[in-house]
Amino acid sequence: DADLVVLNTCHIREKASEKVYSELGRLKLMRDRRREDGSDLMLAVAGCVAQAEGGEIARRQPAVDVVVGPQAYHRLPDMVARAATRRRTGAAAEIDTEFPEEDKFDHLAPDLRRRRPPAAFLTVQEGCDKFCAFCVVPYTRGAEVSRPAQRILSEARALVARGVREITLLGQNVNAWNGAPVEGMGPGLGGLIRALAAIEGLARIRYTTSHPNDMGDSLISAHGAVAQLMPYLHLPVQAGSDRILKAMNRKHTAADYVAVIDRIRAARPDLALSGDFIVGFPGETGADFEATLALVEQVGYAQAYSFKYSPRPGTPAATMGAQVEEEVKTARLQQLQALLNAQQIAFNRSKIGCEMDLLIEKPGRRDGQMVGRSPWLQAVHLDAPADSIGRMVRVAITGAGPNSLMARLLD
Ligand code: 5AD
Ligand code: SF4
Repeated sequence: DADLVVLNTCHIREKASEKVYSELGRLKLMRDRRREDGSDLMLAVAGCVAQAEGGEIARRQPAVDVVVGPQAYHRLPDMVARAATRRRTGAAAEIDTEFPEEDKFDHLAPDLRRRRPPAAFLTVQEGCDKFCAFCVVPYTRGAEVSRPAQRILSEARALVARGVREITLLGQNVNAWNGAPVEGMGPGLGGLIRALAAIEGLARIRYTTSHPNDMGDSLISAHGAVAQLMPYLHLPVQAGSDRILKAMNRKHTAADYVAVIDRIRAARPDLALSGDFIVGFPGETGADFEATLALVEQVGYAQAYSFKYSPRPGTPAATMGAQVEEEVKTARLQQLQALLNAQQIAFNRSKIGCEMDLLIEKPGRRDGQMVGRSPWLQAVHLDAPADSIGRMVRVAITGAGPNSLMARLLD
């Protein structure tokens, strides 16, 4: 029954990107059926595929009416209105992949955009200046830009006033945040987190995603000093071989990464880690891959994402020699994921018998069951009253599966 379908797209790997076109094919058939009925369906493509491919999308799939990049979302209503007028005349699609001067956040409602009460995301930073050799983000999302602390703090206060108890600060390079501070605030993300922690009613703070080289002293010490900052950190390393890290232009070694983690763990001993890994980067040998496995063994992850290297147009790695064969990538990914899954299960099991605070987020599948989040971002199922959503409760962990825990309420 929709009048407009917006596909919000990801360009990070080829698979995600190609899915857009198969999805558009299906939607075009739907649109054709709607037109036979005398109604209509408008199609918009948003996100990083829109940013990267622009007008090419409408050429490849002429049913598309609107193509809008991530920095121009606030223009979507106008674009839809113009496209609605123009399509009667059969004119071309509306395309906007600019990085406009005006700040889109000024035009979008304070961050109730991606609300998942009682936990919410708050964008504090966008873009990336790192240019890892495999990655499209610096091209699709542009240079690093930090939002001013004042805006972030007032949006956070508005969220908390609406019942949000947990805020995850978002940015492609969130720990490179260097926005304008408010008076009396310390520098960088560590300073921002300390300022947020002063908001009454905000029980939990998280941030994602971080680069190891931007883990500054003030941020590391915040992990020990700020009780609301949760002991869970997504800190991608991508690979364990220094040769590959260099080819990836990561600007750190495996030992640098481990040293950063040691320092954060010294500040916050119960810290759990999550990471991202790429297997089969051009030139990766069996020995390089073994170094990734060894690093995973050494660090120990509570959770992780891992991917086969996917050549992306316009990135330096896409044209490097010694691209790794698909079968080799598949085998390496399986081996790495087996190790990461085993670590995740072991981490979950290590919580059995522990007491902890949960933030109740939503009803579970069964009647009377609720789902909460542990400090380590694990989903936890428990029997609890239906009106407990948004409450912090004390529980004992009674069981653990690969992807979630079971708990019992303590009074
Ligand atoms: N191929 C595979 N994985 C990639 N990532 C980024 N670019 C690529 C690529 N070309 C992964 C990285 C990053 C995560 C968001 O996606 O691990 O941290
Ligand atoms: Fe991409 Fe992250 Fe590297 Fe930036 S730091 S280029 S977003 S992988």
